[in-house]
Amino acid sequence: MAQDQSVVKEIDQPGQDLPTWDGWSTPLTLYNSYWLRSHTVSKFMLVRDRFKPRRDDIILATHPKSGTTWLKSLAFTVSTRSRFTFDNTPLLTSNPQRVVPFIGVMGGDLDNLEALPSPRLLSTHLPLSLLPPAVSTVGCRVVYLCREPKDAFVSRWHFENKIGTGAPISLDDTFRMFCQGISPFGPFWDHYLEYWKESLARPHEVMFLRYEEIVSDPLMVVRKLATFLGVPFTEEEEESGVAEQIVRFCSFDSLRNLDVNKTGAGVERAGGKILLEAASLFRKGKVGDWVNHMSKDMAEAMDHLVEDKFKGSGLEF
Ligand code: A3P
Repeated sequence: MAQDQSVVKEIDQPGQDLPTWDGWSTPLTLYNSYWLRSHTVSKFMLVRDRFKPRRDDIILATHPKSGTTWLKSLAFTVSTRSRFTFDNTPLLTSNPQRVVPFIGVMGGDLDNLEALPSPRLLSTHLPLSLLPPAVSTVGCRVVYLCREPKDAFVSRWHFENKIGTGAPISLDDTFRMFCQGISPFGPFWDHYLEYWKESLARPHEVMFLRYEEIVSDPLMVVRKLATFLGVPFTEEEEESGVAEQIVRFCSFDSLRNLDVNKTGAGVERAGGKILLEAASLFRKGKVGDWVNHMSKDMAEAMDHLVEDKFKGSGLEF
């Protein structure tokens, strides 16, 4: 059962008490209005002060379960195509989450990032407000990816039960927490809106994408991405079908069937409470799968919430 607000407890952080929430596979902590997994907070706290954005950085920012794995594969393949072929790309030996480091965590420790040559291709689930303001002022390019909230929610529920090593979490409990904004990197609406507004303010530097858009026309998105990343397809490449090959290589079935993603070793985290396996990143890869899991009432409640939260922003789902 998800816990009631009344049992939210306090934990000690240097100089401050932050609320925590037990209901997901690991506790969450509320930091700067966003719920982060408690064991990651101290690392993420450093990002705003210590991560040094460079003018030519490209940051792939996503709300979790929006297609991060897919976006990373596409952006990595597009931007490294002069260095790697489909026969020797690191995507054959590393899962896509690993080829683009997360800012501040999972191999993307800040010292490691500092040592990377420019231009850096980086990624994050952090909201814009938890990144250094220099991301905006120096003009880093950002590709933001979000997803229709009902599908993102269903994907999150499956994922959480796949990676969690404790008792299963019910759909109802997950729904309540998600709609209260208490989910990893939630509230999802504030996360989407921060990047949406940034894309309106810096349209040439921030590309706002939706999962559904990539599903409906992956080729168009790959071409747009290549231009945005500063490596548009040449005429020769277009004639030889390079963009189509990238779309095929990064498709759900292709990536899911690579050995590295079928058998990629599990990584234990958070005192054994999370077991991350590459295969957990590939479930169904469809638009509209919510209909197979959510009741009509749930779907209506989520639609009302979404309408209310995004009202007047110009962002609709
Ligand atoms: P489903 O759970 O709906 O299948 P993230 O990478 O941000 O964790 O998002 C995971 C979601 O993206 C999962 O959605 C997963 O199946 C889907 N996904 C992963 N790789 C994909 C790909 N190459 N093409 C389409 N969807 C993909």
